[in-house]
Amino acid sequence: MSATHLMQTYSPQPVAFARGEGAWLWDTEGKKYLDALAGIAVNTLGHGHPKLVPALQDQVSKLIHSSNYYLVPLQEKLAAKLVELSGLINVFFCNSGLEANEAALKIARKYGHDKGIERPEIVVYEAAFHGRSIATLSATGNAKIQAGFGPLVEGFVRVPLNDVAAIEKVAATNRNVVAVFLEVIQGEGGIRPTTVAYLKEVRRICDERGWLLMLDEVQCGMGRTGKWFAHQWAGIRPDVMPVAKGLGSGVPIGAVVCGPRAAGVFGPGNHGTTFGGNPLAMRAGVETLRIMEEEGLLANAAEVGAMLKAGLERELAGVAGVVEVRGQGLMLGIELDRPCAPLLSRAAEAGLMISVTAERVVRLLPSLILNRDEAAQIVAILCPLIKEFLREPA
Ligand SMILES: Cc1ncc(COP(=O)(O)O)c(C=O)c1O
Repeated sequence: MSATHLMQTYSPQPVAFARGEGAWLWDTEGKKYLDALAGIAVNTLGHGHPKLVPALQDQVSKLIHSSNYYLVPLQEKLAAKLVELSGLINVFFCNSGLEANEAALKIARKYGHDKGIERPEIVVYEAAFHGRSIATLSATGNAKIQAGFGPLVEGFVRVPLNDVAAIEKVAATNRNVVAVFLEVIQGEGGIRPTTVAYLKEVRRICDERGWLLMLDEVQCGMGRTGKWFAHQWAGIRPDVMPVAKGLGSGVPIGAVVCGPRAAGVFGPGNHGTTFGGNPLAMRAGVETLRIMEEEGLLANAAEVGAMLKAGLERELAGVAGVVEVRGQGLMLGIELDRPCAPLLSRAAEAGLMISVTAERVVRLLPSLILNRDEAAQIVAILCPLIKEFLREPA
């Protein structure tokens, strides 16, 4: 297939998928693959879910798009569910992760301006990833992603992850800070979890200072870790929570969910989007959450994820070159001591779709419907490939 009419922003593997069923994909040649990536944490319900497909067909036949100039009852339905699951107050709908983060950054700045802070600053993190717009790439902690796009948006203060002293220092010296913005588990940065203790400390500091705690749950949220949102493992609540990816199980969607401190910051005219909140995306969100509950997919993510992690740890124990297996639920990373991009095509050849992030981390983000047998197959295909790769001269 020629890609000459596409802007070369990706280097895709030479495989095109024609259809999917559950955790499985078939390419245009009819070859079958086990999907341990799920469209980068998007296909929550796997492919072709028998309850989601007819619901989306029904919605397409009724109404795909109207406009935010009119009431969209499905928005209210999905917002109410997100509020119930998060314990927060209200929701703004958009179409992607970066859009949800962009909304969060605007909320933080306006929150500051409303308090009389003219040059609001936001604490962000080393190795963070928040998206590819000019503002979200400025918040991202990756020089490669930022290179060539300066001048970056100002108003960010960067600190290392899980370092309470570093953020205390910012608190003591910077009077313009209005918010802290972080991923509960860094995804693109290499599956790097924030500790429960750190999250609790940041919550405390935000409360003491009147800062917004803004948790980017775009990759780690929507049930992936075994709770609806990854921060719920720490027993805290954010003030602002962008979500996207898995919320629509494949239909583009984003949302920023706000608690009491942030829910009233935006008023009419402060933010907007043409497509955000359209009936098709809202129906996808409503049905995804309903099916997740009906099928107990949080428990499944926790159990099958724990089994997958244990299998990887068992098979890779003591293997020279394996640094660490980490992550929670069905968000797992295997850090190696060297760049490992060649594993992508080798896994694909062996019928397994994975990702490599932060150069040295094999990343697994399968659908939340993954069963124990499929998890065992991931271990059985992937671990020998990793061992073989590590035996080659570096
Ligand atoms: C934590 C996080 N935030 C934001 C984004 C950006 O989302 P999108 O690609 O939908 O704009 C991503 C995408 O990988 C992400 O992992």
